[in-house]
Amino acid sequence: MLKAADGTDCRNYGTVDGLPEARALFASLFGIRVEEVIVGGNSSLNLMYDTVARAYLHGLAGCEKPWSQIGTVKFLCPTPGYDRHFSICELFGMEMVPVGMNQHGPDMDEVERLAASDPAIKGIWCVPLYSNPTGISYSGETARRLATMKTAASDFLIFWDNAYAFHHLYETADIIPDMLSECRMAGNPDRVIMFSSTSKITWPGAGIAILAASVTQVSRIRKLMGIQTIGPDKITQLMHVRHMKDKENVSALMKRHADIIRPKFEMVLGILEEELGGTGLASWNRPKGGYFISLDVVPGTAKRVVQLAKEAGVVLTSAGATWPLGKDPADRNIRIAPTFPPLEELRTAIRILCVCVHLASLEAS
Ligand SMILES: Cc1ncc(COP(=O)(O)O)c(C=O)c1O
Repeated sequence: MLKAADGTDCRNYGTVDGLPEARALFASLFGIRVEEVIVGGNSSLNLMYDTVARAYLHGLAGCEKPWSQIGTVKFLCPTPGYDRHFSICELFGMEMVPVGMNQHGPDMDEVERLAASDPAIKGIWCVPLYSNPTGISYSGETARRLATMKTAASDFLIFWDNAYAFHHLYETADIIPDMLSECRMAGNPDRVIMFSSTSKITWPGAGIAILAASVTQVSRIRKLMGIQTIGPDKITQLMHVRHMKDKENVSALMKRHADIIRPKFEMVLGILEEELGGTGLASWNRPKGGYFISLDVVPGTAKRVVQLAKEAGVVLTSAGATWPLGKDPADRNIRIAPTFPPLEELRTAIRILCVCVHLASLEAS
């Protein structure tokens, strides 16, 4: 019952890089090689944090020196972006360099210019599919430019946070390239580290997380992990392999998830259109997947909108959270996460939010 396919007793220590069948399952889900996959822990954010910590303390494959031994470390932060990426940078004292987002991903002219000009820029955060919070998916061209671009730092890293890899709301899904192959083909195989998890497939907090990279990078990380732990929770891994089964089954499960959350997204978008469409007071995205709707309000009013909503009993993500250090220079962006509240509560909350957008912009005019 608790034995893995190779006879490993999942209750015991060992198998630092994850059960072979769990690694094989994720390799097949992402269309990559088993040797490129590590399965461990319950949170991809934890794997990202550990990766940054390892880069600082010991250095990853291809690293000239551990980052703690160089003066300033800078990271490119496409904005608006995921607040917890920025918090990791902040904690390690990195200088965050914001880069704008367009409909194809980060502004690549800017990314290429910055990465080529400053050796202190050691990497970039990317949420390539249904970005948090914009819902934008990177184009093939963006991925190729990231893989091939010249970087002043020889150990430049792309943190490819593929958190929403299977989280399509509609039949016609956005597709992104396999970044491991792109980097390999570009002659920069160690440049990318991909992260993902089952937090929004099975259970957040009781799921499993994965990291994928070149075989060289994976063996460096595995070696460092082997000092940190005698092995992950393999019972959870086994449970996931048996529950998730294969690509087809995961797709079917994700369709059932989409059936639950799609009506919430569509209702929010409908109310935004009804209350704010054509007013010039706000603009928003229509995501085809992921977990968020990104709302831009009149510059200088996002904080006030969030405060007014709070006074009316609607708690939103803090304004500014989508920017490094929590400071949106235009005070404009608000992240809406429509998945959790029941439909009726969400309806009331979004109506209140729209009233607050009107009020705040009236106050500012
Ligand atoms: C882009 C992104 N990455 C990572 C996470 C967290 O993932 P995990 O639960 O695997 O730590 C989230 C959660 O909202 C997210 O939006």
